[in-house]
This record gives sequence, structure tokens and C-alpha cells, in this order.
Amino acid sequence: MVWYNHIMRLDKAIIEAGLASRRQMKQLLRSQQITVDGQVVQRPGQIVDSHLQDIRVAGQKLVTAKESYFLLNKPAGVVSACSDSKFQTVLDLLKEEDRVPGIFPIGRLDRDSEGLVLLTNNGPLGFRMLHPKHHVDKTYYVEVNDALHPDAPAFFENGVTFLDGTSCKPAQLTILSSQKGHSRARVTISEGKFHQVKKMFLAYGVKVTYLKRISFGGFELEDTLPAGAYRQLSQEEIKVLKKYFD
Ligand code: URA
Repeated sequence: MVWYNHIMRLDKAIIEAGLASRRQMKQLLRSQQITVDGQVVQRPGQIVDSHLQDIRVAGQKLVTAKESYFLLNKPAGVVSACSDSKFQTVLDLLKEEDRVPGIFPIGRLDRDSEGLVLLTNNGPLGFRMLHPKHHVDKTYYVEVNDALHPDAPAFFENGVTFLDGTSCKPAQLTILSSQKGHSRARVTISEGKFHQVKKMFLAYGVKVTYLKRISFGGFELEDTLPAGAYRQLSQEEIKVLKKYFD
């Protein structure tokens, strides 16, 4: 996976942008053809910010992709990955012009799960959203194959222990309907363990038959966004995201 980063060594920024090879770099520096904000630079290890600084190689401006943020409603059958040899990916759902360098889904939903996926090419921000220390809340609408009894919310609130002994942080369960053979619920978790929701319900003794993420990090999946569709985050939403995670 390519982590998008706009703050890095000068030589790395230039080489990654395809403006010079490693060998050409030395020659360009020696012949004073590299400038940052109009000043000739000679130290290849100088740290630059390609979003804020004007970096030129033999007069040619270094341009990096603008930051992109999308909220997508993943349909079942699509994988939350950048590439896959067998299945359609969330990136395949983006229009060509939105498939910018370094774009990736922040976190994963199983192939058979649906719902809210955020995508960005701001690698550090995406990485921070996934870091366990941030405890980003994720809420799922879930259907299971049997009854959920009144003891279920307390079972989830006490921190579920998977059948393999892994323990989870407290989760909030709301039962929406319950009957033998089919129940519906909403569950909020603050971690991102592999198959976490399915394993939590399995520990309770029922099997998840349908799973849809309906909120993530304060973003809600709108009814107006059909499966497979996506929208750009607004400037206001990006500002809030950056306030918490940049
Ligand atoms: N938990 C799961 O088990 N699956 C998902 O896709 C997301 C959370």
C-alpha cells in the first residue's frame, strides 16, 4: 500500500513525483537546479512540505495530488482493499478521476459486510483514525440467526471474550427485535479486531447473518447513498476530521 505523505525528504519528494532519478538528483543539486520557495537548495535530506512549499526541478514545479476524502457505501461482495486478484475492490467503485495516488480505505469491512467506508489519500490521518489509542466508535446494524435475550446488552457491556480467549472492550448493544430464529440489533464498538462483531455474537451464541456499518468516527451512513455510491466529504467535515486526527 502506498502511504500518501507530503512531508518528507527533498530527494524522496522529487524522485516519488517522477521529476528525477536518484542519479539525476546529485547532478541537479550540484548544478543548482533545485529550488524551494525560490532558494537554491543543496541538501537532499532537507525536509519539505510539498503542499506548502514551491519545489522546482529545473524550473518544473513539483505537484502532488490534492488530499481526497470520500464516504462510500460498500455493497456485499466488494473487498475493502486497494487491489485484489479475484474480487472487485472499493477503489474499483471510484470514478477514474477520484482514484488518486495513495487512496485507500480507512479500515476494513468483511467482503460480505456492507456500509460505511471512508477513503483518503491522507495516509497519516487514516492511520491515526485506526490507532487503538483513539478508540474511534463504529456502529453496526446486525441481524443474527436466533433470539437475543434481555441479558445480551450486559454481556456486551462487560467486554466480550472470544472463544479463543481474546477479550474486547465494552460494547453497547441495543436489541431492535428478537425472536427465535431471527433478531436485529445495533452494536457500537471502539476497536477494530478482525471479524470483531461476528466473533462477539458467536461468543454470545448466535451467528451474524447480515452486517452493515452505519457509523464510523462521527460519520453516519445516509439513506440517500445507495450501495456502491459514494460522496466527497465537505470542507467542514474534513476540518472536523483534521481537528481530531491531524
Ligand atoms: N466486524 C466483523 O465481524 N465484520 C466486519 O465487516 C466489521 C466488523
